[in-house]
Amino acid sequence: MAIDGPSGVGKSTVARLLARRLGVPVLDTGATYRAVALEVLEAGIDLDDREAVLAAVGRADIELQPTADGGLEVMLDGRPVGDRIRTPEVSAATSRVSVHPEIRARLVALQRRVAARFGAVVEGRDIGSVVFPETLHKFFLDARPAVRADRRHLELVASGKDSSYQQVLRDIEERDARDRGRPDSPLICDETYHVIDSSDLTPERIVDRMVATIRRTSGARTPP
Ligand code: DC
Repeated sequence: MAIDGPSGVGKSTVARLLARRLGVPVLDTGATYRAVALEVLEAGIDLDDREAVLAAVGRADIELQPTADGGLEVMLDGRPVGDRIRTPEVSAATSRVSVHPEIRARLVALQRRVAARFGAVVEGRDIGSVVFPETLHKFFLDARPAVRADRRHLELVASGKDSSYQQVLRDIEERDARDRGRPDSPLICDETYHVIDSSDLTPERIVDRMVATIRRTSGARTPP
């Protein structure tokens, strides 16, 4: 199952719930790009220095490890990345390092290998377009920018971080432009996707719709 869409549409929550309903792990591909950005930031490398960025990433050991609660955790140089990848600095750096085709190729290979081994709900930006273009089950989650900024802002405040709504909205718009505008694997939505606007729907309602669509599309029985 592929779930794509911009940041702040609730992809992670929905992907987790859907995975639980289907009894498969969830693969958050954004976390793999975030781990790469963390590696580059921790090495103190200038994000504009393409060669240095690629060299640092080439040296990094990035793996996905199954967790007890059915997830797949990103391991960077043998250590779980945990919350270290959830800071605004890492968010901003991630959309910059993820433009490099060399980095994308490496992470796509990792994502394919792991998803093929475990079967998974895979969420990201290019899952239905590049990573698993053949899958029957592609969902594009979208939401109004103000709703997305509001959610992200509340998340940051709830986790005790300093946050300004206007800044979060600007950051989201900037990352959207970069994710949609990059030449390699831009965020796109075409007629092979089922589009769901999450602005006014609870995650449970979204997952209900997804499960109904999956049943209709595959004709197969899926767990309730
Ligand atoms: O989903 P997220 O916010 O954790 O994603 C972080 C960044 O990674 C975002 O700017 C887009 C990028 N990304 C990507 O380029 N391709 C993916 N499959 C997933 C995320």
